Amino acid sequence: MGRIIIFTGKGGVGKTSIAAAHAVRAASEGKKTLLVSADMAPNLGDIFETEVGGNAVPAGDNLYLLELDPDQLVRENYPNISKAMRNLFGSSGLALDNLDDEMIIPGFENLFSLLKIRDIYNSGEYDLIIVDCAPTGETLSLLKLPELLSWYMEKFYPVGKTMVRVMAPVSKAKYKVTLPNRKAMNEIEQMHWSLVVLQELLKDPDVSSVRLVCTPEKMVVDETKRSYMYLNLYHYQVDGVFINRILPDDAGSDFMNHWGSIQKKYIRELESVFAGIPITRIAWYPHEVRGRAAIQHLCDDVLGDKDILNVRVHTDNEIYEACDGGWSLTIRLPGAAKEDVTVYQHEMDVNIKVNNFNRCIPLPNTLTGAQIDGWDVADGFLRIQFSKKADGQDETAEAGKDGK
Ligand SMILES: Nc1ncnc2c1ncn2[C@@H]1O[C@H](COP(=O)(O)OP(=O)(O)O)[C@@H](O)[C@H]1O
Ligand SMILES: [Mg+2]
Repeated sequence: MGRIIIFTGKGGVGKTSIAAAHAVRAASEGKKTLLVSADMAPNLGDIFETEVGGNAVPAGDNLYLLELDPDQLVRENYPNISKAMRNLFGSSGLALDNLDDEMIIPGFENLFSLLKIRDIYNSGEYDLIIVDCAPTGETLSLLKLPELLSWYMEKFYPVGKTMVRVMAPVSKAKYKVTLPNRKAMNEIEQMHWSLVVLQELLKDPDVSSVRLVCTPEKMVVDETKRSYMYLNLYHYQVDGVFINRILPDDAGSDFMNHWGSIQKKYIRELESVFAGIPITRIAWYPHEVRGRAAIQHLCDDVLGDKDILNVRVHTDNEIYEACDGGWSLTIRLPGAAKEDVTVYQHEMDVNIKVNNFNRCIPLPNTLTGAQIDGWDVADGFLRIQFSKKADGQDETAEAGKDGK
């Protein structure tokens, strides 16, 4: 079975450098490795000092580099899917009104990068795929797309062709969506299936994991904590944190030592937030990480002979349990405060909103007829309590902000 490691973090913190070091390490172990950039501003070519583009190029024994360009992928690999998606989500592909509130689907073109990664994975050509992702915000938008889009598709295409055709005129007005015509159906079905498989792959705890790269400074630490929370919300597994550009204990001047002490404070904070997740500390080098020798140095310095290529931690993120009078669903939300979270139920979906991030979880069949009784956020976990619905009660249970 292949393996996918996704690197993300704020812009400029060292994602590409650290992803490259992982790739070099994996290749040296004899694993056929693809280092692929899904960043709109890729810089694999810079760091390896070679020409990289839309087709994988060799960069040494067992090592290949690829920079994905969503526009090129749409043109060359997925023209039909792209057309069908536009029919479904509107010509801009951007905004779509939901039943309850407005949801935005940002730059869905990037989805084609994920589909390409899935296709490469399925080809079985590589033992390991290392993804150098865009800065965190974009990565989060990207990683929530497969689930969000498949959820929409299920709403609009759950009941077969006839039903959709009957619904179409109403739906058009109400949901501001052009439903696919019958000719496009097979493509839509195919797309939906693709999205479901893609999610399963990216969330498969034996295949995929996300590694966060950061530097010990306030803005970066705050963003890293937030992305950790959102990655958990969407059920992605985080199995490594890299703290980059750490100053030495004696940085040579009072000025630099002052910065060193500020860094220490943030390193301690990261250690407490990411307790249980392997943390790798990386020195601030007196040189850039550029060229094979510098990548190799980074690799030898911090990746050593540790077991870094396997999935390093497994966390259960979505746990359904039977309990008194019903069920509970527990979701890890590290660092979430109760006031950031809203939970409500719509038919058989639970909608969890954490600040601007919204996740709809279709409930399993065992919970048919159940309704939310209450919910709470404590110690980094959201716990939602369901009870069996009594006859005659309203279908839609709204649990307000106070969780009652
Ligand atoms: N530990 C380090 N010490 C010194 N320079 C570093 C270190 N890590 C990264 N760099 C340099 O910082 C810049 C940004 O790194 P890069 O890996 O491209 O970040 P990102 O991919 O997150 O934007 C590059 O010039 C890189 O060579
Ligand atoms: Mg980069």
